[in-house]
Amino acid sequence: MNLLLIGSGGREHALAWKLSQSSQVGRIFVAPGNGGTATTAKCENVAIADSDLSGLLAFAQTHVIDLTVVGPEVPLVAGIVDLFQTAGLRIFGPVQSAAQLEGSKAFSKAFMQRHQIPTGWARVYSDFEEAADFVHSLDALPVLKASGLAAGKGVVLPASQDEAVEVLRQMLVERSFGAASATVLVEERLTGPEVSVLAFCDGKNIALMPPAQDHKRLLTGDRGPNTGGMGAFAPSPQATPAFLEEVESSVLRPAIDGMAAEGTPYVGVLYAGLMLTADGLRVLEFNCRFGDPETQVILPLLESDLVDLLLACIDGRLDEVTPIWQAGAAATVVLASGGYPGHYATGKEIHDIAKAEAAGSTVFQAGTALTDGRLLTSGGRVLAVTGLGEDLPAAARQAYAGLAHIAFDGAVWRTDIARKSV
Ligand code: AMP
Ligand code: GLY
Repeated sequence: MNLLLIGSGGREHALAWKLSQSSQVGRIFVAPGNGGTATTAKCENVAIADSDLSGLLAFAQTHVIDLTVVGPEVPLVAGIVDLFQTAGLRIFGPVQSAAQLEGSKAFSKAFMQRHQIPTGWARVYSDFEEAADFVHSLDALPVLKASGLAAGKGVVLPASQDEAVEVLRQMLVERSFGAASATVLVEERLTGPEVSVLAFCDGKNIALMPPAQDHKRLLTGDRGPNTGGMGAFAPSPQATPAFLEEVESSVLRPAIDGMAAEGTPYVGVLYAGLMLTADGLRVLEFNCRFGDPETQVILPLLESDLVDLLLACIDGRLDEVTPIWQAGAAATVVLASGGYPGHYATGKEIHDIAKAEAAGSTVFQAGTALTDGRLLTSGGRVLAVTGLGEDLPAAARQAYAGLAHIAFDGAVWRTDIARKSV
C-alpha cells in the first residue's frame, strides 16, 4: 500500500516511523513533512501544505494513494475527510461534522451537556457587553475560550476580572483569533491533575490507548509560559483501571453513541482532555486527532500494526482488532529553540541524533529541515527524545540518556519530564 501522511510535526514523524514498520506499507508520502520524515524508511516529503485540500486530493489521485492519514486538526475541521471520501479515497479521520468536537468548543460543550458527559459549566457569547456583564456577576474567575481553532492559544486563565474583560474585548471585539474568536466560552475554572485519554473509534466501537500526561509549561518545576508541550509520558499513574473504566463509560462511550445517534458517527482518534477534580472527572476538551507530544510516547508502546487499526476504524470493524500494548512506560523530552514560545532563531545545525539512537532512544523531529544534507532547526519545538523502560523512572532515564548526546545552539529542555508523577 502507498500512504499519504499529512502534517509536519513530531506527531507526524512518530506516525511515519510507526507506519513504516508495517509490512503492508510500500511508500509513505508526507505532506509537507519535516527533516525527520525526509529520512524515515519508506518516506518521502512532498511540498504541499496541510491546508491545501485540493492540492492534497490531486496528489492522492495521481499517486494512487491507498490510505491517507491526517495528523493535524486544521484539515480535518476544514473537511478533508469528506472531500477524499467523495472522491472514493480511503482516509483516516473524522468527517467535518464529527470534527466539530474539536473545531467548535461551543458545539462540543453543548454536545457534552446533551449527553450528560461530565464537564464544567459554560456560557457562550458573541456579544462583548453581555459576556463582560456575566464575568462581573461571577464570584470566581472563569476560563475564557475562543470557540474555534486557535493553534492551542485560544484558552486563557485570567488573573483578575479586569484581565478577563480585557481578554474578552480582544477576542470578541478585536477578533484576536479571527473568526475563531467571534464566539467565546466563559467556562467554570477547574483544578486538578490532567490526563489525556485517546481512543481509536470506528463510529460505534472504541479501543483506548495508554493514558498520557503532557507538560505544558516551558520550565522545570511547571514554571514559565505555556507551550505546545515540553514532554509527555504514558501510562499515567493517575489513571487507575477504575478511572479508565469511568472514562470509557461516562465520557468516551456516551460521546461515540451520541455522535452516532445525532447522525455524525465518529471515526478516527478521539482525544479526551480530562481533569481529576475534587468533585470527580471532568472533560476539558475533545480533540479530533492524535496529540502532540502524546503520540511520541503512545505509538512506541504499540506492538500491533497501526495500519490494521486504522483500516479497521475506517471499515467499522474495530471490534475484530484489539491493539496490543507493550508493558512498561514511555517518556519523551522536547528540545526547543532558545526563546520559544516567544521569538527564537532558526537555522541552527543539529548534531548527533544518531548517537542518541545508538544509545537506545528514539528521536522524533518536529521543527527541523534537511537542507543540502544538513539538519537544521526550523521551528520552536525542534525534536522529542523518547525512551522506553520498565517503569516511568526507567523510561525517563532512557530519554535523558539519549538527549545528552544531541546538541544545537540555544537548545532548551525541562529536566523533570515524567517526574511529576513519581
Ligand atoms: P483546552 O484546549 O480546552 O484543553 O485547554 C488547554 C488547557 O487549558 C488545558 O489543558 C488546561 O490546562 C487549561 N484548561 C482548559 N479548560 C480549563 C478549565 N475549565 N479549568 C481550568 N483549566 C482549564
Ligand atoms: N498535547 C495537546 C494536544 O495535542 O492538543
